[in-house]
Order: sequence, then C-alpha cells, then structure tokens
Amino acid sequence: MDKIFELIEKEEEQQKELVYLIPSENFISENVKKALGSDLSNKYAEGYVGKRYYQGNKIIDEIEQLAIDRGKKLFGVEYLNVQPYSGSPANGAVLMGLVNPGKTICGLKLSSGGHLTHGHPNITFSGKFFNSVQYDVNDEGKIEYNKLYQLVDQTRPKLIFAGTTAYPWILDWKKFGEIANSVGAYLVADISHIAGLIVGGVHPDPVPFVDIITSTTHKTLRGPRGAIIGVTKKGLDKNANLTKLIDRAVFPGLQGGPHMATIAAMAVAFEEDALPEFKLYAKQIVKNAQALKIGLIEGAQGFAPIHIFGTENHLMVVDVGFEKGKEVAVKLEEKGIIVNANTIPHDKGSPFKPSGIRIGSPAMTTRGWKEKEFADIGQKIANIINNQ
Ligand SMILES: Cc1ncc(COP(=O)(O)O)c(C=O)c1O
Repeated sequence: MDKIFELIEKEEEQQKELVYLIPSENFISENVKKALGSDLSNKYAEGYVGKRYYQGNKIIDEIEQLAIDRGKKLFGVEYLNVQPYSGSPANGAVLMGLVNPGKTICGLKLSSGGHLTHGHPNITFSGKFFNSVQYDVNDEGKIEYNKLYQLVDQTRPKLIFAGTTAYPWILDWKKFGEIANSVGAYLVADISHIAGLIVGGVHPDPVPFVDIITSTTHKTLRGPRGAIIGVTKKGLDKNANLTKLIDRAVFPGLQGGPHMATIAAMAVAFEEDALPEFKLYAKQIVKNAQALKIGLIEGAQGFAPIHIFGTENHLMVVDVGFEKGKEVAVKLEEKGIIVNANTIPHDKGSPFKPSGIRIGSPAMTTRGWKEKEFADIGQKIANIINNQ
C-alpha cells in the first residue's frame, strides 16, 4: 500500500480513539465525505453560475446554485458566495471588496479571543494593508461595548468585525449594530465558530443587525473545510452593489477556480444543518460545554486554582497558570485528550507561551457524548492539570 494510505488509515484509527476537545474541530458525515472525495475535483469552473470561463460546467452550475440556495435559506441572507477556500480568504475578500488599502478597520484583539484576519497587526494582511484598531475584553473576558463605542467614535473605521475564535460568551449583535451605525461602518459578523449554534437556534442570530456574515463551514456547521460570505437585507439597503463587490473580490480578486467538490459537500452539510436533529445537536453542544465546566470545577477542588472563562456557548478558556498552556496541552495529549494552548484575557505570558488552554464540546457531541461523559472528562482534565 502507498505509504500515504497507510498514514491516512492510521490517522483515521486515531480519530476514533482520542478525545477531541478543540472547539473548532468536528467530524463530518459520510455523505459530506462522499461529496468531498467525488470527481467534482476534476473540474475547473472559474467564474460564477451561468458565467464560467471554461466549458462543460452545466452540471457544475446546478451544484453551485443548489449550495447557494440551501445556504441562503439556512442563514437567512439575501445573497451568498460559496467559493471562498476557507475562513481567512473569506475575510480577505470582504476587506478587499469593501475597504481601500490604508483605511481603518476594527476587530477584537487576537489575544482576547479575536481572529488573525480581523486586523492583527504587522504579520497578517489585515494588519499590514489596513490601519487596524483593536478592541478588548475586561477581566472577566467579556467585550467592553462602551469602550468599543468610544474607540469607533474616535477612529471612525470603515469596517468592523464582530466575531471570535476563543470567546465563551454570547455576542450582543444589537449593540454591535448600534456602534457600527453610529459611524456608518460596515459591520461583518464572522460567525465561523458559532454558525452551528446560530442555525441550530441556541445563539442569537446576527443577520438583522449586520451587513455581512462570513463563516467557515467546517466547525460547528459540520461541513467541509471551506467558507461562505453572505450579504443581509440591511447590507443591501446600505449598498446595493455589495454583492458585486464581494463576488469580484473573491474571483478574480483573490482566488481562481472554485473547489467544486467542497461546494457540493457544503450543499450536503447545509441540508443536514437544516434538519430537526441538528437543532438537538446544537442544544446538546451547549449543555455539554456546561457539564464540562462543572466537571473541571469539581476535579479542581482542593488543588491549585484553575480559573475558567465561560461558558455560554461551545467553548471555554481555562487559565492553567503563568505560561503553562502548552505544557498542559502536551500533557493532555499524552493522555489521549486533544486541546490547544491559548492566551487567556490579558495574558501576562507571550503568545508563544500562553497561560491557558481552549476546550470545547462540538466534536465529541457529534460522537454522541452527553453531560455525563463531559463532566467525567472535565474531572480528568483537572486532575491531570493539578498532578503535573
Ligand atoms: C472567527 C474565525 N474566523 C476565521 C477563521 C479562519 O478560518 P480558516 O482557518 O479556515 O482560514 C477562523 C479559524 O479558526 C475563525 O475562528
């Protein structure tokens, strides 16, 4: 057997055995996998439905249109682009389409739970090619909306990102909307982490309050690695050209041919996400995250304090001691528990030596775990942290 297939088999076996608690990971269905591994990979389809640069795309057009129609219904948006290769290119396309280089953009600090593409300074395209101003959280790890309002008032950004990658609280979309409206900024909800919770009805929906949504499709949505950009009615009312600007930024602005197997797999996932079972899944994710937290607290009793930031959603950030995040993550991996090291709010350690770990429930909830299993694993994690 080709070595690569041996390795794939090994990885597949491992995925059945280990406990996956990285909040951005999940397990896809057999049908999503089938679409991903299909012959659609063979086709080049630069352009959009009905406007391709290559021939032979009639069926491809039907597939992309189906993905768009299902996605529009699922997210409740007026327009959807399903071609972004992943979350970072989706945010790149939004910036490229709507903001001129050098203008001001605003996002949550990476070290406080934001994402690199939301203006992280110096090393990312969003921080290099735009004037990035960043907002922060308080000591509880919660966004300080009043301070954000002041920052936006002083700096008047063209675009504000509302969205997070390590934030355990419910986002106040209405407040974000009011703040963006106060300066006429575009408001982009990057719902990559919580999209499954939103469409599953357990997290408030940003669509009435924002102009644009971006989302990866591989986290709580349980689809393939890819992303979408949606424009809301509010966005279209503000600028009827938004759809054109986004389309042009995705192709030919940033990307070439769309990954059609991924787009077909998205269509499969969107259909699965609209089923009543998916609502139960979303509810169970939140219940399980809460059980995990209780387990952690119980397991930590009488030992060194572990502070837990969260949780109202699928994840929490746990303070495991000054600069100890990576050490703890490695220790947990040795015991078959997969988490990632993460900064805690106002971390005194460096980004390379953070003081926390980020843990969440989406993947093991897909595997069928309920509150009991999550409370038990929480206790186990606390014991491992304390005995190291
Ligand atoms: C909020 C948010 N936006 C964007 C991304 C980027 O997605 P990708 O890794 O697919 O580029 C992530 C990934 O973690 C994310 O959490």
